[in-house]
Amino acid sequence: MSQSCNARIDPTLSSSVGIDGVDLAVLAARFGTPLQVYSAGAIRQRIHALHCELIGLDAMVCYAVKANSNHAVLQLMAQAGLGADIVSSGELRRCLRAGIAAERIVFSGVGKSEAEIIEALDARVSRFNVESFDELCLLRQLADQRATTTHAAVRINPDVDAQTHAKISTGRAENKFGVSFDEARRWFAQHPRTSRLRLDGLHVHIGSQILNLDPFRVALERTAAFQRELAGQGHLITSLDVGGGLGVRYRDDEDRAIDIADYVDVVRRSLHDFRGRLVFEPGRWLVAEAGLLLTRIIRIKHGQQRRFVVVDAAMNDLLRPSLYDAWHDIAPVLKASENRMTCDIVGPVCETGDTFARSRELPECAAGDLLMIRTTGAYAASMASNYNSRPLAAEVMVDDGRYAAIRQRQTFEQMTAGDVMTPQWQSL
Ligand code: LLP
Repeated sequence: MSQSCNARIDPTLSSSVGIDGVDLAVLAARFGTPLQVYSAGAIRQRIHALHCELIGLDAMVCYAVKANSNHAVLQLMAQAGLGADIVSSGELRRCLRAGIAAERIVFSGVGKSEAEIIEALDARVSRFNVESFDELCLLRQLADQRATTTHAAVRINPDVDAQTHAKISTGRAENKFGVSFDEARRWFAQHPRTSRLRLDGLHVHIGSQILNLDPFRVALERTAAFQRELAGQGHLITSLDVGGGLGVRYRDDEDRAIDIADYVDVVRRSLHDFRGRLVFEPGRWLVAEAGLLLTRIIRIKHGQQRRFVVVDAAMNDLLRPSLYDAWHDIAPVLKASENRMTCDIVGPVCETGDTFARSRELPECAAGDLLMIRTTGAYAASMASNYNSRPLAAEVMVDDGRYAAIRQRQTFEQMTAGDVMTPQWQSL
């Protein structure tokens, strides 16, 4: 494998591959498989690289928690001074528990419930990214009732094609996210200035895993023009949130990732005359390449037409291939045979969609061998489920030759803790 993963894959250990000085085979033996492994150093590198590019800007980086909400990952973000972009009270609580200050938290999402808005108001989060007129009215009413001053940004839907997978594209007019410039214009015109809710921000997030700068440029230029228009009408915009979306390399031989310097340059140029605070909401870019999923081959099945490598990880651990036909590089952990084989790499779940790779070339392997599925630091553990009554996988962090469990493998008792054994039937 080449080295696009900035989790330092180290092929020099005696017989197996290491990450940040820790032998993956040893981790698998100690914690079992499937096992998510994250490199703290790789995450810190990304944070540092981003911070370097932001020097001189009034910028706040709010990590998109949905990418990976593990407590240890959030603590790394908190220690580096990052804020958070959250979409639920569960994420809010995780962030506060990990030490991310409420004044560095922005609350996004198309379906914030009243209870969630109240909780976030009481926690004094910095800003709400508002997605509909009903939400705006509710937020205003709750802020005024509770005499809590807070800030809102209008999430703009700029009708831009992010040129990514349709299921993670959010900036087209047909998508459920944000509102049109016309609607936003009306919100600003009608907003009572006496309200405790300060409508003083704009937010735009057009999608995820974007590998082309043009859609970002178009969306930001449209938003900048709108901000100028609003300023001309006396509406002061103090915060412009540019969302997340920066793509990463899943495929060594094909994906061309955007250079962070080029991305920030597009933001700077598109918003050159904006004088307020910029908010960045990267998720995937900070954590995806820092993670890998260790899985063991249960058996090799020679089907009628295809060879199936059946592994002990499944779509409940990593849904991306099933949901988006996403590519993840896969390689053996132990020094591999010179002979190659073509196979489908599949999990044990009872769905044909439980397939990590089709017609993939691998070095010849056998039952019991360890494989690593690369680039699973984002949207893997955070999207995991108990489908087929499979417990959630364990997670480990490695840091410069050391390692620590950061999530215990779920036990059967934990998985079924909410089951009601003897329902107490009642009549109305
Ligand atoms: N801000 C907002 C408002 C978002 O909805 C998202 C992601 C982000 C920031 C972070 O985007 P990122 O920098 O990670 O691209 N499950 C999918 C990705 C869904 C992204 C949802 N929103 C996947 O596995 O590809």
